[in-house]
Parts: sequence; structure tokens; C-alpha cells
Amino acid sequence: MAVFLAVANRKGGVGKSTTSVMLAHALSVWGNKRVLLMDLDSQCNASLILLGGQGWNEARKAYKTIADYLFDMFDESAQPARDYLEHAAGDVADDNGKPPVLSLLPGSLLLEDVQGELFVKEARQSRDPDVVANRVKNRLEKLLRRFEMDFDVIILDCPPGLSFAALSALKIADKVLVPFRPDFVSRLAVDRVAMIIENQIHINGLEEIPIEKRRYTCLANYVRKGNGRERLLIEEIELFHPLMETQMPHLDGIANAFDWEPTRKTIGDKYGDATEHLHRLYTEISPILST
Ligand SMILES: Nc1ncnc2c1ncn2[C@@H]1O[C@H](COP(=O)(O)OP(=O)(O)O)[C@@H](O)[C@H]1O
Ligand SMILES: [Mg+2]
Repeated sequence: MAVFLAVANRKGGVGKSTTSVMLAHALSVWGNKRVLLMDLDSQCNASLILLGGQGWNEARKAYKTIADYLFDMFDESAQPARDYLEHAAGDVADDNGKPPVLSLLPGSLLLEDVQGELFVKEARQSRDPDVVANRVKNRLEKLLRRFEMDFDVIILDCPPGLSFAALSALKIADKVLVPFRPDFVSRLAVDRVAMIIENQIHINGLEEIPIEKRRYTCLANYVRKGNGRERLLIEEIELFHPLMETQMPHLDGIANAFDWEPTRKTIGDKYGDATEHLHRLYTEISPILST
């Protein structure tokens, strides 16, 4: 059965999609795991990185996106109309030059619209909005879990907003990785996502949960060496939240890896100077994922 790793933060542009994809590559190639990445963000960056623009367009035209999957399968009795997953995704190869077992449920620009439609559909059964919302979330949780027998790790690349799909993803996640940029708003954004993950309405409630018992851990991203102000911001996060020892520096190797290329390459060739940092992140997160 798969372990679910959500990658989430209430803020955009902090490296959620980049981290999701880098870990998908690392776990499938170095860890020899069967990895599925689900793109829950209607910005679809993870899909663009793993399929390229053309590949993602083809997936959309073939109705192979998360929006199609959730819409088609929402009724309990529904049967899948097709294989919604893109297999052998990404542009890295293993040591034998072969594609790793890395599949993608492609993202969709229409994911929010579809969730609205599902809400309306469910609202025909009940007039209580809370009941309706809970039913939609429960159904989405089941649908997100549906692939768990076929993979070892399922990475959920979450949007910054609180869509039903995002809330369902955070609910089913065994572990949540929260990348953040060490800037002034990071503390607030991390607090907010942590409260949702730990199911707390007030920050006091969160603080009562011992740090080692939390279901999430934070990852400092875009870290610049020797920047004292950033170091203080990271230390402040660490006072209130679990923090990965690994920090991801601000590197061209990471920014450039955002682009998909038609020829497969080794992880080292794809990530260049970022490879050693990715390896550290992979080594630190692997034991967390096997518990
Ligand atoms: N450590 C890093 N160093 C350099 N660029 C980065 C780093 N992490 C992310 N980026 C770049 O920042 C942008 C936003 O990252 P992305 O993963 O899309 O954020 P999010 O999913 O949180 O919105 C992308 O262009 C990505 O290439
Ligand atoms: Mg993203």
C-alpha cells in the first residue's frame, strides 16, 4: 500500500511543485519505488515539468486529467472510462537508461470548476451545506486513495488555496512536507497550513501538540548562504514547527529543472549542482516515508 506524501503551503511560489517533482524523480530512480504524482493545482506546474507543454496538452485532449478523473468517477457506481494516468512521466532515466516507474495524474485548469459542479450535484441530495461539503470531501478522499495498491509512494502536489481536493489531500496524507521561503510572510503561511493539517482552529491548539507528534515537516527552500536575516527566519520557524535538517539553496540547477526536455538524462545531469542537495533531501525523507 502506498504512503501518501502531500506537499503543501498556503503560499504560492515557495517550491511545492518543484519539490514534488524532484522527490518523484529521486524516489523512483534512487529509491526504486513505484511513484505516482497527483497534480492537484490548477496551475499545473508539476504536469508541465513532467510532461512538457505538448505532452500535457495531449493528456488534456485525451481527457486524462485529474478533473476528468474526479468528474467521471464521482458517482460511487461509476467505472473508469480510461486509464487516467500518464506513465513513464518525467525526463530522467535510471542507471540502465530506462524510464523509472513514475506516473502522473495530470493537472487541469478546470479542477476548480469541476469541484464546483460536484458540489452542486451533491447539493441536490441535501440542503445543509456542511453535509454537502463533507460528502464531497469524503468522496474525493476515496478517489485520491484509489491508486494506493499500485504504487509505493503517492505525492500530492497541493494548490495554495483550500479547495475540496486540497483539503482531502491533506486529510489522507501520511506526511506533509511544507516548503517555505525564508521571508517575512513565511511564518504566517506555515502556521496556517499547519493548523489545517493538525485540524486546529486556533494557533494555541497547534502549539499544544508536541513538535515530534506533528504530521508535517517544513523545508527551507531558496536559502542563500551567509544570509543572517534568512537564518533568523528559519530559526524562528524551527521554534514552532518541525523542520527538515536539509535546506534547499537557491540554485540555477533547481530553476532550470523546471523545463522538461525530450531526451532522458540521469538525475545528476538534470539537476547539476542541485543533485547533492536533492540526495540529502531524499536520504532524510526516505525513513519518514517508510513508517
Ligand atoms: N531552490 C530553488 N532555487 C531556484 N529556483 C527555485 C527553487 N525552488 C523553486 N524555484 C523556482 O521558483 C518557481 C516557483 O516554484 P514552484 O515549485 O512552481 O512553486 P509552487 O509550486 O509553490 O507555486 C519556479 O520557477 C521554480 O523553478
Ligand atoms: Mg505549484
